[in-house]
Amino acid sequence: MSILPIRAYGDPVLKKKAVAVTPEHPGLKELIDNMWETMYKASGLGLAAPQVGESLRIFIIDASPFGDEEPILSDFKKVFINVEILEETGKTWSFNEGCLSFPGLREDISRPPHIRIRYQDEDFNEYEEEYTGLAARIIQHEYDHIEGTLMVDRMMPLKRTLLRKKLNNITKGLVDVDYKMKFPLKKK
Ligand code: NI
Repeated sequence: MSILPIRAYGDPVLKKKAVAVTPEHPGLKELIDNMWETMYKASGLGLAAPQVGESLRIFIIDASPFGDEEPILSDFKKVFINVEILEETGKTWSFNEGCLSFPGLREDISRPPHIRIRYQDEDFNEYEEEYTGLAARIIQHEYDHIEGTLMVDRMMPLKRTLLRKKLNNITKGLVDVDYKMKFPLKKK
């Protein structure tokens, strides 16, 4: 297994709508193994394929670190392939989100609390399931990645303006980060 560099904000791959994955996709198992390795090394809860430069509809989640707060999450570890969000319901709530592509940035993002999704696992078994609370929140964040939507796209325009310098610094690699990243505008 190898650790892949995580693409920083500003990398065009993060803005692309990712494509569906088939069981025949070459190197699929290796990619997923590498994604786990990469996510754990960066202490992330979730990682989407575009964040390692692969514009594919795959993300992984291990929410077990939240198990103390929400016991249902203590064994929530899954690979999600070709996810469709069938329904998002309830009164939106705010949660302070972070993202491995935005080191050092945490912002309150508003989303509906319940979702119903359809997806395939790494063996391409199909599921239709409902999630709520933090589990739903993490899925929504990762799902956004495969749609080419980022945390900043979910912020109010004023907030984005206030963060402009910080965001530019992330793109240029002018941030402290303890995991491997690839910055689009980093000077050699
Ligand atoms: Ni993210």
